[in-house]
Amino acid sequence: MNLIAAIEWAEGYHRRGLYSPIGVTFHWVMAALMVFQLAHGWYLGWQPVGGDKYIGYQTHTQVGLTIMLLGTLRLCWHSQISGPDTVDEASLTGKASRLLQSWFYVSFFALPISGWVMWSTLPSDLPLSIAGLIPFPNLPFDQLSEGLQHRLMQWAASAHYWIVWITALLIPGHAGAAVLHHLIKRDRVLPSMFDLNGPASPGVVGSAPDKGPVA
Ligand code: HEM
Ligand code: HEM
Repeated sequence: MNLIAAIEWAEGYHRRGLYSPIGVTFHWVMAALMVFQLAHGWYLGWQPVGGDKYIGYQTHTQVGLTIMLLGTLRLCWHSQISGPDTVDEASLTGKASRLLQSWFYVSFFALPISGWVMWSTLPSDLPLSIAGLIPFPNLPFDQLSEGLQHRLMQWAASAHYWIVWITALLIPGHAGAAVLHHLIKRDRVLPSMFDLNGPASPGVVGSAPDKGPVA
C-alpha cells in the first residue's frame, strides 16, 4: 500500500468517527512507553548510586529516544491526515482536550531533547541509541567550558523535571476525561481509540452510540 492509498484507507475510518488502526497503534504503543518511562525514571531516581542505576539510565535513554522517533513518525502521519471529529472543537472542553493533546506532542520531543542535553554534559562512557539498535550521537558539549556545561546541565535537568511533572499530572486528566465521555456523555470519544471496525453509519459529533447496521 503506498502513502496515498494508506491515507485514503485511514480517512475511511475518520469519516466513521474513528482513529485508523495506524493512529490507534501509535496511541497505545506511545502511551504505554510514556507511562513506563515516567515510572521507570522515578524508580531510577530513588535507586542508590551504583552500577544498576547507571545501566538503568541506559535503558531510560534508549526508551526515551524511541519515543522521540515514534513521535516524529506520528507527527508526520498527523501532518498528512487529521484525526476524526470526536469532540466539538469550538467548545471549551473541546479546546482544552486539543490543548492537552498538543502538550503530549510537545513532551514527546521536549523530554528526550532535555534528557539528551543532560546526558551530553555528563561524563559517561555508555553510548546512546534508539531502542538499543540505532546508534545516536552525543551533543558536542565536551568542547564547551566546564561552567557552560554545568549551566546547560542545570537548565536541562530542571526542564526535564518540570515537563515530567506536568505530563504525569495531565495523563490521569486525559484518561479520566475519555472515561467520563463514555460514562456520562455516552459519545464516541473513548471507542474511537479502541474500535477497529467502526460503526455502520458515519459519525456525528456527540451522537449516541452506534446501534449496529442500518436496515
Ligand atoms: C519521553 C521520554 C522521557 C521521559 C518520560 C523521561 C522521564 C524521566 C523521569 C520521570 C525522570 C526522573 C525524574 C527527574 O529527575 O526529572 C528522568 C530523569 C532523567 N532522564 Fe529522562 N525521560 C525521558 C527521556 C530521556 C532521554 C532521551 C534521556 C537521555 C538521552 C533522559 C535522561 C535522563 C536523565 C540523565 C535523568 C536524571 C536526571 C537527574 O537525576 O536530575 N531522559 N527522566
Ligand atoms: C488509559 C489511558 C488513556 C486513555 C483511556 C486514552 C484515551 C484517548 C482517547 C479516547 C483519545 C481520543 C480523544 C479525541 O479524539 O478527542 C486520545 C487521544 C490522544 N491521546 Fe490518549 N489515552 C490514554 C493515555 C494516553 C497517554 C499516556 C498519552 C501520552 C502521554 C496519550 C496521548 C494522546 C494523544 C497525543 C492523543 C491525540 C490523538 C492522536 O494524536 O493520536 N494518551 N486518548
